[in-house]
Amino acid sequence: MKNEGRNIFSVFDELLQQEDKEKLLGQKGVTLWMTGLSGSGKTTIAKVLEKKLHQQKFLTQILDGDNIRAGINNNLGFSPEDRTENIRRIAEVSKLFNHCGVITINCFVSPTIEIRNAAKAIIGEGSFIEVFINTPIEVCEARDVKGLYAKARKGEIKDFTGINAPFEAPNSPELNILTEGKSPEENAEEIINFLIPKISLKE
Ligand code: ADX
Repeated sequence: MKNEGRNIFSVFDELLQQEDKEKLLGQKGVTLWMTGLSGSGKTTIAKVLEKKLHQQKFLTQILDGDNIRAGINNNLGFSPEDRTENIRRIAEVSKLFNHCGVITINCFVSPTIEIRNAAKAIIGEGSFIEVFINTPIEVCEARDVKGLYAKARKGEIKDFTGINAPFEAPNSPELNILTEGKSPEENAEEIINFLIPKISLKE
């Protein structure tokens, strides 16, 4: 009996794998997960890092709290439940990017060990690189770029991380980035030196 029509597409209809896309891009699709207080410098460092990676022909996507919360997560606040849902959706989005071979640079307070572990579980341990943007609360508060610490102190924002909501520093981040006395350039350089050997598939 002929087998017409049955297996004709068996080779072609297989989904392309992450590795196929990574090969095309010459990079590994990983998530660089930056955690730290509001105003610690996560997004500032991410922007410098992204430019440097772009110059070296790596394809990246920055995901940060203020942007994601203005769009896909615009129905979420800062209760523990909402933060958990915020991070869950971000982790799912990061996973999609990573499966496409793209490196995501994530900038989220992600204040608890539990919340970050949940993100790691979704993204996959081997693709999750935890980076602690380690800036003391006094420094973040003195900078107060967005004026949020002043508001929190006046009681105008409840559940503000570091003031009246918890922040748990990571126990063993892959990178501990001390920002005091360092420029975003220097911090980005430190991250890039660690990252490139892990992500590069370039000849
Ligand atoms: S997370 O805790 O759910 O990970 P996320 O990183 O998305 O937070 O958002 C943090 C940003 O939201 C801060 O940088 C700050 O600009 C703003 N923000 C507004 N209210 C709060 C709050 N109560 N706690 C922390 N950040 C807040």
